[in-house]
Amino acid sequence: MTVKIFDTPEVQNFLNTIAGFDQEGGSDRAKQILHRILSDLFRTIDDYDITPEEYWSAVSVLNALGQGTQFGLLSPGLGFDHFLDMRMDAADAEAKRTGGTPRTIEGPLYVAGAPEVQGTGRMDDGSDTDGETMWLNGQVRDTQGNPVAGAKVEVWHANSKGGYSFFDPTQSEYNLRRTIITDSDGRYAVRSIIPSGYGCPPDSPTQEVLNLLGRHGERPAHIHYFISAPGHQHLTTQINLAGDPYTFDDFAFATREELVIPANRIDDAGEIARRELDGPFSEVVFDIVLAKTDEAALQNRHARPRAKEREQDQASQLAGTARV
Ligand code: DHB
Ligand code: FE
Repeated sequence: MTVKIFDTPEVQNFLNTIAGFDQEGGSDRAKQILHRILSDLFRTIDDYDITPEEYWSAVSVLNALGQGTQFGLLSPGLGFDHFLDMRMDAADAEAKRTGGTPRTIEGPLYVAGAPEVQGTGRMDDGSDTDGETMWLNGQVRDTQGNPVAGAKVEVWHANSKGGYSFFDPTQSEYNLRRTIITDSDGRYAVRSIIPSGYGCPPDSPTQEVLNLLGRHGERPAHIHYFISAPGHQHLTTQINLAGDPYTFDDFAFATREELVIPANRIDDAGEIARRELDGPFSEVVFDIVLAKTDEAALQNRHARPRAKEREQDQASQLAGTARV
């Protein structure tokens, strides 16, 4: 069966009706966008002679993704997150907001409301004995090289099994998640454990889609950051640890050359004592440069559904400090 009906007036009129073009209510933007997406999908069905069986199996995959709140997991694998980054990079370049540390994707595993520490603290609860001690530190500066004191550095990462607290119920609350306020010299320093790489759940609908593309669902060991300070552009980024087999083969397309950072093993007794650690450790240094901006919207992370974020908003409103 190789019929082609997409360009017929019947189908074109049908699309206009589906998109509500003949209706008063609703949103014009939603109508335009739905009309485009549905037209592209109808045309795909026509061009590839997609069968009813194929169509309904796709609906099943979408239902399974939704049931497991997995579209946020598949989204980076299909490149949407990186594509949005490329668009924001292009907008920054056009507006000459350049010179800062590059952004890269947030991923789906942030949880709002992590404990806040001043300058330094500990991120792990001490229970992950397979995790090698990590001393993660750096300085936040502006594009002129001035330290940014009081910057908010939110950090989150996986444990030695690639699991994130909250999503992995075996971990304690906010394990490996902290908000660090930089000291008077713009510095932050935390004790944690070296994260392991992350793999999509093997029996998940996300992996099922990747399998159809002949792709793996692995990410290199990585550490997520949100960095913000008044007068500066909010930065969403992450570092990928050097030497991981997936450092340059990340299914989520988050790796950027400037964000590949080595973990340096240190076993000198003096250095161990200076950091009040109990044995050899790996040091990871990530300095961050924030671009300046007066635009309030650029100083905050963009809105998206995030774990516990609404509760945080409500709590902060009760405290009389509603976020803009
Ligand atoms: C995914 C997981 C991550 O830890 C991450 O940083 C990005 C994406 C994912 O499962 O899609
Ligand atoms: Fe991650």
